[in-house]
Amino acid sequence: MSGLLSWYDENRRILPWREDPTPYHVWLSEIMLQQTRVEAVIGYYNRFLAALPTIRDLALADEDVYLKLWEGLGYYSRVRNLHRAAVMIEDDYGGVMPGKSRELLALPGIGPYTAAAIASIAFGEAVPAVDGNLLRVYARQTLCKASLKDPKTKKEATSWYQERIPKDRPGAWNQALMDLGATICLPNGAPHCDLCPVSDTCRAHLAGCEESVPVPDVKKPRRVENRTVLILTCGEYVVLKKRPEKGLLAGLYEFPNIEGSSDLKTFLDAAGLCPVFAGIPLPAAKHVFTHIEWHMTGIQCEVRVQDTERFEDTGCFLAGRTELDSTYSIPSAFSSYRRLV
Ligand code: ADE
Repeated sequence: MSGLLSWYDENRRILPWREDPTPYHVWLSEIMLQQTRVEAVIGYYNRFLAALPTIRDLALADEDVYLKLWEGLGYYSRVRNLHRAAVMIEDDYGGVMPGKSRELLALPGIGPYTAAAIASIAFGEAVPAVDGNLLRVYARQTLCKASLKDPKTKKEATSWYQERIPKDRPGAWNQALMDLGATICLPNGAPHCDLCPVSDTCRAHLAGCEESVPVPDVKKPRRVENRTVLILTCGEYVVLKKRPEKGLLAGLYEFPNIEGSSDLKTFLDAAGLCPVFAGIPLPAAKHVFTHIEWHMTGIQCEVRVQDTERFEDTGCFLAGRTELDSTYSIPSAFSSYRRLV
């Protein structure tokens, strides 16, 4: 893989976290990039750092502030763990991020891949950061036909890379492989081997079978949940609810929604609300999570609070329309309905 670093020096993607790779910058970018594409992350990354420029700022930030900065990125446990880890760094490490991958692993939200990425890019430790891209490159380089989901494959790939990672530029090497996987050694039978700096050592390419390696995984079908989303307006206010602190979209804000097809009247009665006009049906929308799909319909209805105690008991509250933009983090699963408010 001797041509990899010179290829990276000429072709690397210009990305904001590569400009000034402090431990905080690299850490934040790696957490944001865990389940999100590079193009989608850039704006979030810049906004997050403008609002919370240091680990200390993050440690001291209110939950609603960092959740709002994460709004739309999804997988919110990532930012909760980021905050918890920032507090630990402040309290236990004197505000200085630990530099060894082994120490980083002890922080919330940092697994083997992220620990290795931070340690190599920000601290120069020679450890391979094996993510999906590196696994695919490994499978093609070695003509590995095993499932990439098998932990044994990941272990073998890690040792294979460990033997090859250069001690003088481990961060550049890991990022070169990430870029190679993202731009050249593409998945789903579409690699650009003609542009690849390591095609000469690629066993899959040499055997002419790069399009069938790695072997595709059988995917489990997602569970479908039908939900009715209620856009309940009350003059200048909208009814919102905080989701439970555990589980899907934990602790975020949502429009009240009920399972299955609508029974608006039952919901309004139970919530101490009375309708001013009949509800208006809203268009259907779909949101795909990792293991669940929400198939949604919606109803818009102008309401008044009739029984405050019952209303508060349901966990609902009235939010000003502008507060939806400024304060409450509403997951993108609801974006089709939010636009209507
Ligand atoms: N994906 C994860 N980490 C990355 C990085 N540092 N550069 C580009 N893509 C990445």
